[in-house]
Amino acid sequence: MKKVIAVIGCGRIANNAHFPALSQIEEVRIKYACDVLIEKANAAKEKFPAIENVIDDYHIALNDPEVDACFVLTPNHSHYTITMDALKAGKHVMCEKPITVNYPLSLEMAEEAEKQGKILNIGVCNRYNKSVEMLADMNRRGEFGNIYHIYCSFRKFRCIPGLGGAFTTKAESGGGVLIDWGIHFLDLILYILGGAQIKNVTCDTYNEMAKDMKSYRYKSMWAEDTSDVENGTNDVDDFVSGYIRTDKANISFNGAWAQNVRQSDMYIDFMGDKAGARLTYGGKFEFYKGDTLETVAPEYDIPDQYLCEDRGFIESITTGIKDKNNIIHILESAKLLDSLYASAEKKQEIVL
Ligand SMILES: NC(=O)c1ccc[n+]([C@@H]2O[C@H](COP(=O)([O-])OP(=O)(O)OC[C@H]3O[C@@H](n4cnc5c(N)ncnc54)[C@H](O)[C@@H]3O)[C@@H](O)[C@H]2O)c1
Repeated sequence: MKKVIAVIGCGRIANNAHFPALSQIEEVRIKYACDVLIEKANAAKEKFPAIENVIDDYHIALNDPEVDACFVLTPNHSHYTITMDALKAGKHVMCEKPITVNYPLSLEMAEEAEKQGKILNIGVCNRYNKSVEMLADMNRRGEFGNIYHIYCSFRKFRCIPGLGGAFTTKAESGGGVLIDWGIHFLDLILYILGGAQIKNVTCDTYNEMAKDMKSYRYKSMWAEDTSDVENGTNDVDDFVSGYIRTDKANISFNGAWAQNVRQSDMYIDFMGDKAGARLTYGGKFEFYKGDTLETVAPEYDIPDQYLCEDRGFIESITTGIKDKNNIIHILESAKLLDSLYASAEKKQEIVL
């Protein structure tokens, strides 16, 4: 029997990733597309004929006994309320990243899923990038030797999203570039390491590039439709730098939604004593062998990671088996984000 889905939030990630993916999965019916701005739900239905109904109140979907699961694709702060409501209504949930704005609320969400016996997955889609699986396998096989350090960069030129809107308002987003992009990178690193115990962290965050929102200059701004430079808020990090000590590799990183360096540096470097690798974010990796000094660029196709992620979720709610994107596997990175932000706020190292 097909799984009946309600998609809540019909913005960018819904249109660019989940509607296209869900439309390709035969075992799925998209019974509802919901957005508080009904015109966005209507526009999605025009583009994706598989959508059966449009609604502007997600409770309609929660009260429908036919609905098996909800996709929560709304701004970060609302992940908590909508997900909790959906779980309490007996629905499985696939919630976009980050889990929500902080760790304590994330933990409550995980506990509620457990209490209701429902699957709650988080959209850390890069775990479904084939390159990531390959690197995790290579690490398990010991091909890197001892990975003693990992460096990652998630930096772009002038790229603050929706300046003045939900993305740059801490109460709605939980933070800036660290929670928005950093979560993907740090979660991937922990995943490839096969988990790691965080010992202590130190971090600095900066809000420099758009202190005066009206004079901020940019070439392009994603989420521009939610921007409000006249009356909105910008109280989040546009640049971040941090250091994480673990019982395995230590991790250092820099992230920039905006910087006055015209480069897009989005990668993770793995430093092992036998070999190393650079993973290009969302793409492939190169492997550097210490014994022969060869650079190996493996040949493989990268399947659509959102399609894999959504298939994984549908399989998980069908079998009841928690997969790698289940919230229980993502809580550690949510906790890490909180400690990094705490370190930046206190301007001191945080010992975990
Ligand atoms: N996995 C990824 O790589 C990735 C990429 C982009 C965004 N995201 C995440 O997806 C989420 C949404 O981001 P986006 O860029 O699509 O934002 P967006 O602003 O384009 O879309 C959010 C939509 O949710 C709607 N909405 C808000 N509250 C609602 C409610 N209570 N009920 C119904 N609809 C509601 C808004 O009207 C809007 O249309 C964010 O949490 C973001 O971090 C993840």
